[in-house]
Amino acid sequence: MIKPHGSDELNPLFVYDTEQRHALISEAESLPSLLLNSAAAANAVMLGGGYFNPLTGYMNLADALSTAETMHTTSGLFFPVPVLNLTEETGVAAGSRIALRDPNVEGNPVLAVMNVEAVEAVSDEQIDAMAEKIFRTLDPQHPGVATFKSLGKTLLSGPIQVLNFSYFQADFPDTFRTAVEIRNEIAEHGWEKVVAFQTRNPMHRAHEELCRMAMEDLGADGILIHMLLGKLKPGDIPADVRDAAIRKMVEVYFPANTVMITGYGFDMLYAGPREAVLHAVFRQNCGCTHLIVGRDHAGVGDYYGGFDAQTIFDEEVPDDALELEIYRADHTAYSKKLNKVVMMRDAPDHSKEDFVLLSGTAVREMLGKGIAPPPEFSRPEVAKILSDYYQTLDG
Ligand code: ADX
Repeated sequence: MIKPHGSDELNPLFVYDTEQRHALISEAESLPSLLLNSAAAANAVMLGGGYFNPLTGYMNLADALSTAETMHTTSGLFFPVPVLNLTEETGVAAGSRIALRDPNVEGNPVLAVMNVEAVEAVSDEQIDAMAEKIFRTLDPQHPGVATFKSLGKTLLSGPIQVLNFSYFQADFPDTFRTAVEIRNEIAEHGWEKVVAFQTRNPMHRAHEELCRMAMEDLGADGILIHMLLGKLKPGDIPADVRDAAIRKMVEVYFPANTVMITGYGFDMLYAGPREAVLHAVFRQNCGCTHLIVGRDHAGVGDYYGGFDAQTIFDEEVPDDALELEIYRADHTAYSKKLNKVVMMRDAPDHSKEDFVLLSGTAVREMLGKGIAPPPEFSRPEVAKILSDYYQTLDG
C-alpha cells in the first residue's frame, strides 16, 4: 500500500492504549486548561486520526511562517498549510503541560493534552503574510480569511496526545473515519488503486460521473468518497443531509463493494489550491493512490481560477513531495447532444447551450420551492432528500 506522507508508518496522535488514555484523562483534570477555537480543535482531531502525518503537534512560528511561504517546514518537510493553535489566551507558560478543551462539545471535555514548547506572539504583519499565502487574498469577505484572522495572536506550539475525536464519532457513527481506519478498510477490501473524491456538497450527476470516469480511466479497484464533516460557511448543506443524499446515490447507482462512503472531521478552509494540496496529503495518509481535483476545488466565490487547484500541483508542489497522483478533471456536465455526462474537453464541438448547466443558486431556489432539478443534473432520489431539507428551512 502507498506509504503515508513523510514516514514509513502512519503515526496517529490518538492514544490507542486504553490504560494510557484513561491515565491521561485523569491527569488532564488537574492540568491548566485552554479552551480551543474550532480551527485548533479540528486540527487536533485530524492529528489524532493520522491525517496530518507526520506532524506530532502544533507548529511553532518559524515553521508556520515557513510552511505558509514555501509549503515546507524549517526542517524541510513538505506541508501545504500551517497547522496552528492560535489563541487569545496569554496566561499559558512555555514548558507547561495543558489540557485542550473542546469548544464544539457540551461541557467542553478535554480533547487532547499538550506539552507547550513555545508561546509566541504573532504580529499583524505575520498573520497577514500567512493568510495571504494560504488564501491568496486578504479580503475580509473571504470566509477562510475572516476565520483565520479571528483566531488570536498567541501561538502555542508543541506535541499533543489526542483523547477522542470530538463530536464526529457520535454524530456520524457510520461515516466518520480516521486515516488509520480507512487504511485498514482499504487493505480488507484488497484494493490497490484507490481514487479519493473530496466533497463538501451533495453529489449531483456531474460528481457521480466524475467518480465513475476516474475509476474507469485509472482502472481503479475502488473509490473513496471522503466528505468534510466539520464546519462550513452559512448556506452550505449540513453534513447529515449531504451524507444521506450521497448514501442514497451510491446505493442506487454504484455496484456493491466499489465505493467507501466516509468522512473526516475538519472545518472547511476555502483555501482553494492550498487546500487541494492539503487534501492530497491526507488522502495519501488514508492509503489512496489518486485524488480527483476538478473545477474550483475547495474554492469559494471568484477568489480562484477554475483550475488553480490543479496548476498548483505543476507549479508549486515539488515532483517528489507526494506519492499520490492527481486525477485532473475538466468542467463536467450533461451533454444534450450525447445524452450523457461528459468532460467539456472531450466535447470540443459543443457550445455552452449543448450542456445542462445550472448555478448553485438556481438549484437551491428550485429545491426550496419543491421543484426537482432536471434528472440530467440531479438524480431524483438525491433531489428528494435535498428538497425535503430546503422545505424545512422555509418552514
Ligand atoms: S469541494 O470544496 O469539496 O472541492 P465540491 O464538493 O463542490 O467542493 O467538489 C468536489 C470535487 O468535485 C472537487 O474536486 C471539484 O473540483 C469537483 N467538481 C465539482 N463540480 C464539478 C464540475 N461540474 N466539473 C468538474 N469538477 C467538478
